[in-house]
Amino acid sequence: MLKECNILRRYKCRRNIFIMYGVTISVCFFMYMLGLLVLSNVTSGDTLIRSNNVRTLQTSYDADDVVGSDDIDISKKLNSGIITSDTSEPKTKTNNYDKQGTIFLDDEDIVKKKKSRTRGLNIDNRNKTKRLPQALIIGVKKAGTRALLEYLRLHRDVRAPGPEPHFFDKNYNKGLNWYRNLMPETSKGQLTIEKTPSYFVTKGIPEKVYKMSKKTKLIVVFRDPVTRALSDYTQLVSRNPNVKSFEEMAFVNNRTKIIDTSWTIVKIGVYAQHLARWLEYFPIRQMHFVSGENLIKNPAGEMKRIQEFLGLEQYITADNFTFNQTKGFPCYKKETKNSGWHCLNEEKGRRHPGIDNSVRKRLEDFYRPFNIKLYSMTGQDFGWP
Ligand code: A3P
Repeated sequence: MLKECNILRRYKCRRNIFIMYGVTISVCFFMYMLGLLVLSNVTSGDTLIRSNNVRTLQTSYDADDVVGSDDIDISKKLNSGIITSDTSEPKTKTNNYDKQGTIFLDDEDIVKKKKSRTRGLNIDNRNKTKRLPQALIIGVKKAGTRALLEYLRLHRDVRAPGPEPHFFDKNYNKGLNWYRNLMPETSKGQLTIEKTPSYFVTKGIPEKVYKMSKKTKLIVVFRDPVTRALSDYTQLVSRNPNVKSFEEMAFVNNRTKIIDTSWTIVKIGVYAQHLARWLEYFPIRQMHFVSGENLIKNPAGEMKRIQEFLGLEQYITADNFTFNQTKGFPCYKKETKNSGWHCLNEEKGRRHPGIDNSVRKRLEDFYRPFNIKLYSMTGQDFGWP
C-alpha cells in the first residue's frame, strides 16, 4: 500500500514537472512570436516610407529612361579657404571624387541621408547606378556656368561630373552608354546634371537632346552679351597672347565700325537666335533662364528659383554663400557648418581689357534688338543696356 502510495506521488511529481516545462516553453514561444511580429512591423513601416519617397522623385527625375561624355575641359581643383579656388572638386574632400570628377558619398553624407529618410525626404541609398542626365546647363559660355554648376553640387540630391562632357557636340558618335558612363552614380531620386556651354549655340544639338529625352530640363545662364564677348576675348588672349586687339576682331573695319558677325565671340551673344532653335524642340516651361549678373549679386535668390524649377528641396540657401571682397565674387560652402569656403579659381572673374566707350556703345546697339527679342521670348527682362 505504502509502495503504491510512493509510486502515485512520484507520478504526480513527474506530471507537475512536465506541466511546468510545457508552460515555460509555451511562454517562450509566445514571446518569440511577439518579438517577430514587432520586428516585422518596424521593417515594413520603414520600407513603406522609403518606397514612397522613391516614387515621389521617380516621377520628377526618371529621365524617360532615355536614350543617352568626354572630357575636353578638365575641370580644375577647388581649394578650400576663403580666397583662392577653382572650378570643381574641393580638395578638402578629395575622397568624394574620382578622376572623372564623380562625387561619392562619404560617411557623413550617408548618415545625413539616413536621417533625411526619417524626415520624409527622398533618398534611397541602395541601387546606386550611373544615369543619363535629367537636366543640362547648356550655356552660355562665360556667363557663369561653372559657378552655377558648383552651386548646384552643394545640393545633397544633385550629382554632376566636374569636367564638361561635350557629348552632343563632340562625342555624339560614342553613344549614350559612353555618355552615361561619365556620370557619377546616383540613387533613385537624385538628379544627374552636366554642363557644356557650347550646346546652346551648336546647331543640331536640340534635336539630339530631344532624342535622348524629350523631358530633359534645360538651364541657360545669360549675361550682357557685350561683357560676355569681352570675357570670352579675355580667355582667348590668356591662351594666345598674340591675338589681335578686341576692336580689330569685332569689327570688319575698325574705321566704319561694321561688326564682324562671323566672329564666334560676337555670334554667341545673339541669344534670341540660338534660343529659337531650342524652342523648336522644347517647350519654354522646360527651360530655365538665369541672369548671370544676378547670380553674382544674389546667388541664393537665383538658386531658390533653380531648385524650384528642378523640383528639388530648397536645400541651398543664403547660408551657403558669402561675398568675398578680395575676389569680388561669391564664394560658397557645402555645409552650413564646419566646412571651409570655396571660391572659383583665378580664371573665373578675370579683369577684362578696357574698350573705348564708342566701341561698347556700337556693340550694345548691335545686340539691343536681339536682347529685346530674348526678353519677349523668355518673359524676362535682363536689364542690359
Ligand atoms: P569673368 O571671368 O569674365 O568675370 P563661365 O563659368 O560660364 O565660363 O563664366 C565665367 C564667369 O562667371 C566669370 O567671367 C564671372 O564673371 C562669372 N562668375 C559668376 N559667379 C562667379 C563666382 N562665384 N566666382 C567667379 N566668377 C563668377
